[in-house]
Amino acid sequence: TYVVTESCIKCKYTDCVDVCPVDCFREGPNFLVIDPDECIDCTLCEPECPAEAIFRDDDLPEGQEEFLEINARLAKTWPPIIQKKAAPADADDWAKVKDKRALLEE
Ligand code: SF4
Ligand code: F3S
Repeated sequence: TYVVTESCIKCKYTDCVDVCPVDCFREGPNFLVIDPDECIDCTLCEPECPAEAIFRDDDLPEGQEEFLEINARLAKTWPPIIQKKAAPADADDWAKVKDKRALLEE
């Protein structure tokens, strides 16, 4: 499965959503996750993310391993998002910030 990691927090550009052939993105207040039960590993979303937040589960960057569990858990309750929408006004500022884990709103 593919996994959304820390860089997405407070960026939420949603370019990823438009390319997913199986609509497996789920939306929370300031982050998106991928439902691992639905993802077919098509690879299309990974290059679309301006924040470079998406990785394959066996290729997660150091320190991002917990997002595997976070995606699986939150995908069970967050609603689907199937169309791109406007990013937050300050998304470009947050894209440069590294330590955002504590800001994830569940
Ligand atoms: Fe969707 Fe493909 Fe990305 Fe999986 S890898 S979330 S199926 S676009
Ligand atoms: Fe997040 Fe990147 Fe998608 S910032 S919403 S994973 S395009």
